[in-house]
Amino acid sequence: MDTKRFISFEGLDYSGKTTQIKRLKEYLEGEGFKVYTIREPGGTKISEKIRRILLDKAHVNMTGRCEIFLYSAARVQLVEEQIIPLLKKGYFILADRYVDSTTAYQGYGRGVDLEMVRLINEAATYGIMPGTTFYLKFLPEQVNKRTKLSGRELDRLEAAGLDFYQRVFQGYEKIAENNKNRFVVIDANQGIEQIHQKIVEVVKKRTLEEL
Ligand code: TMP
Repeated sequence: MDTKRFISFEGLDYSGKTTQIKRLKEYLEGEGFKVYTIREPGGTKISEKIRRILLDKAHVNMTGRCEIFLYSAARVQLVEEQIIPLLKKGYFILADRYVDSTTAYQGYGRGVDLEMVRLINEAATYGIMPGTTFYLKFLPEQVNKRTKLSGRELDRLEAAGLDFYQRVFQGYEKIAENNKNRFVVIDANQGIEQIHQKIVEVVKKRTLEEL
């Protein structure tokens, strides 16, 4: 399956993924393309229900392995219900998180065995991977700062603290290193417009010129 039009966004919470996805969607639609955005976990009725279980603060004792199966259950439903059919129809898919989040959060962050993570990710996606992954790089200390500034209540995962985010950050660094062809690393401290321009430049080169 041609996955050039499948683009995922990764990074710690508050790295600005959602804003950039919105901007890229507007750009691509302006160019006449059909675009579908997905947010993980979620994106289908079943997956949104699983999302609520995952983010529920009452579930403090949820184990890393339970997490990985729930995220992956939400994902496989999304892959079958939305991603495969839409790619076949020629849509662009902009994903707010995908399997790299599982490797970073459940693998590196929660300590689930990385080989097990790899196998589960493979099973949950049928091996369908994005053509490009934008990694908005952002230090763990900044997550805490932006979380406090937002003034809203933390969900279960955000409440996990700085140590956890340090491990997730290190995980993303390793994943980026191991997937140089797919990963495009962008400093998330730049202005929204600057980041958007950089993303458009890469999408033009890696996707639009190849279509
Ligand atoms: P969001 O706030 O970006 O929508 O993501 C929800 C949370 O879920 C975020 O803290 C990252 C976490 N997450 C995982 O731990 N593993 C995963 O596989 C995915 C997709 C998200």
